[in-house]
Amino acid sequence: MQIRAAEPGELEALARLWRDAWQDAHAHLVPAELARHRTLESFRDRLAAALADVRATGPLGAPDGFCMIHGEELYQLFVAASARGSGAAAALLADGEARLATAGVTTAWLACAIGNERAARFYEKHGWQRTGVVTSRLETPDGLFLLDVWRYEKPL
Ligand SMILES: CC(C)(COP(=O)(O)OP(=O)(O)OC[C@H]1O[C@@H](n2cnc3c(N)ncnc32)[C@H](O)[C@@H]1OP(=O)(O)O)[C@@H](O)C(=O)NCCC(=O)NCCS
Repeated sequence: MQIRAAEPGELEALARLWRDAWQDAHAHLVPAELARHRTLESFRDRLAAALADVRATGPLGAPDGFCMIHGEELYQLFVAASARGSGAAAALLADGEARLATAGVTTAWLACAIGNERAARFYEKHGWQRTGVVTSRLETPDGLFLLDVWRYEKPL
């Protein structure tokens, strides 16, 4: 499974992937007030601002998964429904962990929506441990939105 840099020319495709995967995994788990801010435009803007920290799977221009790191955090991991169960997510996760380790991170962390059981199972089978519930401070156009999430950690 090849993991590669995300390219500026595929911003739109990555934003659609993120929007669609976010919708099917999270929209039913989070308050509607937060879901209404998660528009295609918002995902495109966030990707554009952090593209250097994004790596992807799938053909150039037609990505089917991506992983973004931020500081000590495995920040975003999203795989298209068609690529789930294929090993793409595991390869993206391993690549993200390796990037964090190269950056000097010794204990990585991530936030997972409470109730996202598939993601929880996935992280746990790859050695991540749930350490508890924490409150994420999510940025929205209306200001900060506080959301309780599961926190996971993994020593690298
Ligand atoms: C989370 C994600 C990256 C995992 O990738 P994946 O390819 O689906 O992962 P895998 O298929 O390797 O592993 C998922 C595991 O959950 C299991 N599973 C599937 N549906 C489940 C459910 N409803 N409840 C619990 N476990 C479930 C699978 O059987 C598998 O476990 P197994 O290997 O022991 O059989 C991917 O599903 C995804 O992108 N989901 C949408 C976005 C998302 O939730 N991202 C994570 C944000 S924290």
